[in-house]
Amino acid sequence: MTDVVLITGGGSGMGREAARRFAGRGASVALFDVNQPGMAETAAGFDTVRGWSVDITDFEAVKAAVAEVEAAFGDITRLYNCAAIMPFGRLLEQDNAIIHKQMAINYGGLVNITQAVLPGMVARGSGDFVSFASMAGWIPMLKTGGYTATKFAVRAFTETLWHENMNCGVRFACVCPPPVATPLLKQGKESDWPKMLEGERGKTIEPGDVIDAVEATLDKGKFFVYPTRDAKIGVFMRRLFPNLIWKQVHEVEGF
Ligand SMILES: NC(=O)c1ccc[n+]([C@@H]2O[C@H](COP(=O)([O-])OP(=O)(O)OC[C@H]3O[C@@H](n4cnc5c(N)ncnc54)[C@H](O)[C@@H]3O)[C@@H](O)[C@H]2O)c1
Repeated sequence: MTDVVLITGGGSGMGREAARRFAGRGASVALFDVNQPGMAETAAGFDTVRGWSVDITDFEAVKAAVAEVEAAFGDITRLYNCAAIMPFGRLLEQDNAIIHKQMAINYGGLVNITQAVLPGMVARGSGDFVSFASMAGWIPMLKTGGYTATKFAVRAFTETLWHENMNCGVRFACVCPPPVATPLLKQGKESDWPKMLEGERGKTIEPGDVIDAVEATLDKGKFFVYPTRDAKIGVFMRRLFPNLIWKQVHEVEGF
């Protein structure tokens, strides 16, 4: 049976990395993105990768595109939900519409793609459901509040979804990477980049490292994907010593 992979945000970054990796193994890959040139770059050199221009916040458009993918390629066997934006800023200074927009894309998009794709996987009793949260889904910091709120929401939604559909044959993963070298970071840097993410603290890993970790985590039957040891330790520290982390954040930011 052909692997049919649907990747939101497949026109860039980690979505692109996953798309090209799965296509290289013979999968049919559907990309949903608002970035058409990006999708064309992802698909370059592969006959089995096709882009759909879909705004993930539009539920009707998402459902219609999912139906087209299944008509073209067959039942979806893997979902990677990568679409996101990352504008940073202090919450009282950030544009109201931007704070709402990032929730609509980063969290609302997950809700839409889940309701469009997961019922089919559950009915078939198989599939991989991969949701991209972040270390930001565990650790709030100064200037990242709007984005972090979206990632807390993604983590809570995905964790509940997993528990509501345990043992149905679908494998679930919630990905919590540290900073990754993709174009997403540019959005943060062009807005109001926190000092906490400068230098060694903001050291990036490569998109391929994250996709390796996703596959290894699914194969081990685990849910949370921490691509580095430091990411795992950071989350552990936040859970045990939130005040200690806040103290460090204030010291570093200087307010
Ligand atoms: N890069 C990082 O440092 C990092 C770290 C942790 C988690 N993440 C998460 O990993 C995921 C992938 O991030 P990335 O770094 O590959 O990002 P990226 O910016 O490289 O790619 C994101 C893609 O989402 C698309 N997108 C934006 N709005 C959309 C919309 N309304 N509808 C459809 N597509 C839309 C963009 O056009 C882009 O192609 C995101 O959920 C991100 O929050 C990223």
